Amino acid sequence: MSFPITRMRRFRRTPELRALVREARLTPAQLVLPLFVCHGENVERPVASMPGCAQQSVDRLVATAGQAARRGVGSVILFGIPAHKDPLGSEGYADDGIVPRAVRALKSAHPSLVVWADVCLCEYTSHGHCGVLREGYVDNDATLPLLSRAAVAYARAGADVIAPSDMMDGRIAAIRAALDQADRALTPIVSYAAKYASAFYGPFREAAESTPQSGDRRGYQMDPPNVEEALREVALDIEEGADAVMVKPALAYLDVIWRVKERFGLPVAAYNVSGEYSILKAAGERGWLDAERAALEVLTAIRRAGADIILTYHALELAEKLG
Ligand code: PBG
Repeated sequence: MSFPITRMRRFRRTPELRALVREARLTPAQLVLPLFVCHGENVERPVASMPGCAQQSVDRLVATAGQAARRGVGSVILFGIPAHKDPLGSEGYADDGIVPRAVRALKSAHPSLVVWADVCLCEYTSHGHCGVLREGYVDNDATLPLLSRAAVAYARAGADVIAPSDMMDGRIAAIRAALDQADRALTPIVSYAAKYASAFYGPFREAAESTPQSGDRRGYQMDPPNVEEALREVALDIEEGADAVMVKPALAYLDVIWRVKERFGLPVAAYNVSGEYSILKAAGERGWLDAERAALEVLTAIRRAGADIILTYHALELAEKLG
């Protein structure tokens, strides 16, 4: 049946008709707002390359999280900025480190907000790499016990979801075993399974103060041209006990999101990373495009590609526009 019997414009005529046939839907409960937490009181240090984002002390963080919760945002994910960095990233797995403190405060102020804890050493190490360095190379196996200690410290503080982003091999199995042993068998792991060595992390490294002091992360994060390898990474993490998997970044990797969702079917998260956020903000500030509409379009595309969960710095500003 073709024109004039078929007219595709019939369902486009009014907002209500468009809503009737809309396919990809996005709700604030599916969004995860990343937050940067630092020591001190009443501290709010805006991140220049990420307008609208700041490093915040725990008291300010609790207020921002409250705002997010009131707007229906389902989750926040925490990145900690330690008081001191050292070669082994020891504040990353200290029971009284910045993340466990923030988790305790958030869970007591906003019990129904889902609190995720990112697990990685790069914010805590003096060299800025995601694991322990040995002769300039990140030592995979020596890093696993430290990541496991971090996961247990965060879960004990009350984190609802543990999200390892370090890209060491075998970390999901190690963390799962450690959580189970610490009586946290019901704490889920969302693995950053397909995490690429991306230029789009630039602004985050300013926000989290985690730029590697030498070299880059290509020795452990994935090579951007590879998708079959992403599927292997995901399969391995599922075997090791991941409850959900993440693809990161999102926009330049929509095909990866799609293939992971199609093949494995488990909940898939996508990280709409700092660089993806900053380019829209920058263009919006120059008046080159309507940044809010563009952001909604981007999040919808990520959802359409198959992501069930989206980590995004836009969560706070866009939550009320969704539903
Ligand atoms: C590493 C980590 C990074 C991000 C989240 N976790 C940066 C990196 O690998 O260098 C990036 C997030 C973003 O760019 O928004 N712990």
